Amino acid sequence: MNSPLRSISAFAATAAGDRLAPFKIERRSVGPRDVLIEIDYCGVCHSDLHMANNDWGMSLYPIVPGHEIIGRVVSTGAEVTDLAAGKRVGVGCLVDSCRQCEACEDHLEQYCAKGFTLTYSSPTKDPGGLTFGGYSKQIVVDRNYVVTVPENLDPAATAPLLCAGITTYSPLAHWKVGPGMTVGVIGLGGLGHMGVKFAHALGARVVMITTSPQKGEDARRLGADDVLVSTDAQAMAAWAGKFDFLLNTIPVPHDFNAYMGLLKRDSTMCIVGAIGPAAALNTAPLIMGRRNVAGSLIGGLKETQEMLDFAGRHNITADVEVIDIATINEAYGRMKRSEVKYRFVIDLATLS
Ligand SMILES: NC(=O)c1ccc[n+]([C@@H]2O[C@H](COP(=O)([O-])OP(=O)(O)OC[C@H]3O[C@@H](n4cnc5c(N)ncnc54)[C@H](OP(=O)(O)O)[C@@H]3O)[C@@H](O)[C@H]2O)c1
Ligand SMILES: [Zn+2]
Ligand SMILES: [Zn+2]
Repeated sequence: MNSPLRSISAFAATAAGDRLAPFKIERRSVGPRDVLIEIDYCGVCHSDLHMANNDWGMSLYPIVPGHEIIGRVVSTGAEVTDLAAGKRVGVGCLVDSCRQCEACEDHLEQYCAKGFTLTYSSPTKDPGGLTFGGYSKQIVVDRNYVVTVPENLDPAATAPLLCAGITTYSPLAHWKVGPGMTVGVIGLGGLGHMGVKFAHALGARVVMITTSPQKGEDARRLGADDVLVSTDAQAMAAWAGKFDFLLNTIPVPHDFNAYMGLLKRDSTMCIVGAIGPAAALNTAPLIMGRRNVAGSLIGGLKETQEMLDFAGRHNITADVEVIDIATINEAYGRMKRSEVKYRFVIDLATLS
């Protein structure tokens, strides 16, 4: 039996509301189906902030956040035959699931009936009793939960695809967004900017729906055909009934009924912002147009690979600001104020 990998540098929050600070962790030894990954970059998701602050009441401390992981294979267990040392790989939000339920059999591990294991802050048999995420130098992950990354994509800019990318790609694919459709992406942040890029690449007419008029120019550069400022009542009225699909990425409780009138009959608004109890549902726009409100959670491993391969073919990556891990607390503050264009990515070379 190999001994665990000791004293791996990381950054952690040790209690709700604490600043993240240097922290040492252990990783399990590399098992037969495992991959040891040297982490090069890790994206900073709004969920990291929610979890560090215990916004959802489910955080287990210490938390080493990070589920947009890009790195290189260092070594693999004996049963892993398809990943050689040096291969560029990624790890997203999940590192395990039951592998037996209907959802897992359907490659939808994110809806595992028995509960999946999150990349961080989930109970595990690993050293420390909790999973620790990508704000660290190395990680050991079962091969089934590791994806390969096209070598033509810039690695730092690809990190956010592991969460922001798949969380937007999956609903766009599920609701069959494509040519001839008008799609609204609500909220131009980490998820929203990926939603615009993917919806555009899938051939839809894309409208950026934002509270920030000054982001309009960026939205067009990212692939939006039009910009709708949601605080402009006249503009909202002009777009009423024009959308085939809405992807709502707003990260705070808000009145989503205000957006329902934008949908055509029989169309869907999919909410991906994890905002807990939302505004009371106004049934009028629902029943008057047989409209739907839905939700969607990240994506399964098979679809994550499909998304990365699609991104590789279409040369799609995130717009990122690469940061030194020592500035992570300031980055959280800026993310909270919607001041990031459009994803922070930690360069793990800055962690000693
Ligand atoms: N379902 C899933 O599987 C999944 C996966 C990952 C993340 N998430 C969740 O998705 C949400 C978005 O994450 P993110 O990383 O994209 O966040 P983000 O980078 O902070 O972007 C959110 C954007 O929403 C808009 N916004 C912020 N506050 C608003 C308000 N009060 N009213 C209206 N719009 C507002 C802003 O865009 P404008 O300036 O353009 O208005 C902001 O840039 C978070 O709740 C996160 O936890 C869910
Ligand atoms: Zn995330
Ligand atoms: Zn399962």
